[in-house]
Amino acid sequence: MEQQLTQLEQEVLTKIAEAADLKALNEVRVAYLGKKGPITDLLKGMGKLSAEERPKMGALVNTVRENVTAQLEQKVALLEEAAILAQLENESIDVTLPGAQVRIGNRHPLTRVVEEIEDLFVGMGYEIAEGPEVERDYYNFEALNLPKGHPARDMQDTFYITEELLLRTHTSPVQARTMEAKKGEHIRIICPGKVFRRDADDATHSHQFMQIEGLVIGENIRMSDLKGTLDVLAKKMFGAEREIRLRPSFFPFTEPSVEVDVSCHKCGGEGCNVCKKTGWIEILGAGMVHPNVLEMAGYDSKKVSGFAFGIGAERIAMLKYGVDDIRHFYTNDTRFLSQFHQAEV
Ligand code: DAH
Repeated sequence: MEQQLTQLEQEVLTKIAEAADLKALNEVRVAYLGKKGPITDLLKGMGKLSAEERPKMGALVNTVRENVTAQLEQKVALLEEAAILAQLENESIDVTLPGAQVRIGNRHPLTRVVEEIEDLFVGMGYEIAEGPEVERDYYNFEALNLPKGHPARDMQDTFYITEELLLRTHTSPVQARTMEAKKGEHIRIICPGKVFRRDADDATHSHQFMQIEGLVIGENIRMSDLKGTLDVLAKKMFGAEREIRLRPSFFPFTEPSVEVDVSCHKCGGEGCNVCKKTGWIEILGAGMVHPNVLEMAGYDSKKVSGFAFGIGAERIAMLKYGVDDIRHFYTNDTRFLSQFHQAEV
C-alpha cells in the first residue's frame, strides 16, 4: 500500500508539472484529491488495516496529501502570475505613439462676416437690433412705403402664413419697428438676420439667406455721412485700398436711393472674372430714409433725417472667400466648412 501511495504521489506531481493552465490544473485537483479520487479511496481502505499499521498509514497518506496540495497551490500561483504578465503585455500602452486628433470646430463663414460687421459698427457706437422672422405685412411692406398693390412688392414675393403674416423678405422691417419703439429718439442700429423669398435656388439665389440692415436717424444726417460710413465698411471687409462708388437706384423706403459698388479686391479695379471686367462689384443697397417712412413711424421728417443700408451677408462672404455657390453655406459639408479653419486663427 505504501508503494502504491508513492507511485500515486509521483503520478500526481507529474500531472501538476505538466498542467499548462489553470483549467488543466483544476482537473488534476478534482481527479486526485476529489471525493471520488484515489487518495480518498485509500483513506476509505484503511479500515481493513491492523491497529498498528493504521496510524502509520494515516500519517503517510496525510503527508502525501499535504505535499500534493502544496505543489498544486504553488503551481496555481505560478500560472496566475503568468496570466497577469501576459495580460499586461497585451494591454500595454505605447505612450510614444501619436494621439488621435481631436477635431475642433470653427465659426461658420456667414457668422464670421456678420460678427466682423457687427464689431465694426459697435465700434462706431451702433446698437445691435433684432426683429421677428415671421413678420406682419405692415412692417415688411406698408411701413416701408410699399402699400398693398405696389409694383415693387413683386420683386419680394415670399411665403405667406396668412394674408397679413409672412416670412420677412428683408431686414428692413426692423427699421420701422425700431423707429416705433424709440419714439422720436436718435437711432444708430445694425440688424443681422435671416430673410426669405419665393426664389428658385441656384448658385446665386436661395429661398433663405441673411441680411445686415443699418439705420441711422438724427439731426442733419446727410448723404455724405452714409458715404463715409460705407467707405469704412468696404475697407474693413475688402482691404484698406478699396474705393466705393454710388450709383442712382430705387427703393421705395429711401430717397434718394443708391446701389453701392466696391473696387474689385481681386484685380484692384483693372477688370477680371470676379468683377466681370468692370473693376467694380455691387455689394449693397442704401439711401436716405424716405420722409413717408419717418412720418409713419412717428418721426418729424422736417426735424430729423437718416440713412439706411442693407447688406447681403452671403454675397459679402462669397466675394471675400471666393465661394462660387451660395448653397455651400447651407449644406453643412464639413469639407467646405473646415476650409475656414485656417483663416480663423
Ligand atoms: N431691403 C432691401 C432689399 O432687400 C435692401 C436695402 C436697400 C435696405 C436700401 C436698405 C436700403 O436699408 O436703404 O433689397
